[in-house]
Amino acid sequence: MEITMKAIIVYFSLEGNVKFVAEKIKKQLNADMLCLTPKKEYPTGKVSKFFWGGKSVIFNEKPKLESYQFNKEDYDVIVIGTPVWASSYTPPIKTFLSENDLSGKSVAFFACQSGNDASKCFEKLKNELKNCQVAATLALVNPAKKKTNEDQLQIDTFCYNILNHIK
Ligand SMILES: Cc1cc2nc3c(=O)[nH]c(=O)nc-3n(C[C@H](O)[C@H](O)[C@H](O)COP(=O)(O)O)c2cc1C
Repeated sequence: MEITMKAIIVYFSLEGNVKFVAEKIKKQLNADMLCLTPKKEYPTGKVSKFFWGGKSVIFNEKPKLESYQFNKEDYDVIVIGTPVWASSYTPPIKTFLSENDLSGKSVAFFACQSGNDASKCFEKLKNELKNCQVAATLALVNPAKKKTNEDQLQIDTFCYNILNHIK
């Protein structure tokens, strides 16, 4: 199918699950990618990642990001990808949303998690992006570890819903 709309995937991924999904969506939507990188990296140690990541969410941190190029006017839809941290979206996404007013844009969210309820994370994102139209949402459980056909089908449906919303 020819894709006439332009999408960008803006994401943060600590351990590769969100990146794994972002790359699949990129292929399907022929999208640009913007990987957010905090200047001070979060640790990936088994315990320290929960301590420092959890603390960062609870204290509402907006970590400084490595410089990036982004112009919302270039895009019909902005797809935001995040791991669920402490039932919320991640602090680098918070920084991005505080630096970029997406009012009036169409957006879509996807989240990766280890449990099975991303609803609070999506509620918070919707609240932060009150003046945006939400084209689609997608939540997957650690997809890079499982690589299942079910997850692929959900990614396909997510992309289809975005295309349908924009056309
Ligand atoms: C600091 C921290 C907090 C987390 N909190 C949650 C949570 O509240 N609910 C959940 O289902 N998974 C939680 N997880 C698990 C991640 O959301 C999950 O492993 C996700 O797939 C990681 O994405 P990534 O590999 O792109 O970093 C947490 C992970 C970390 C590091």
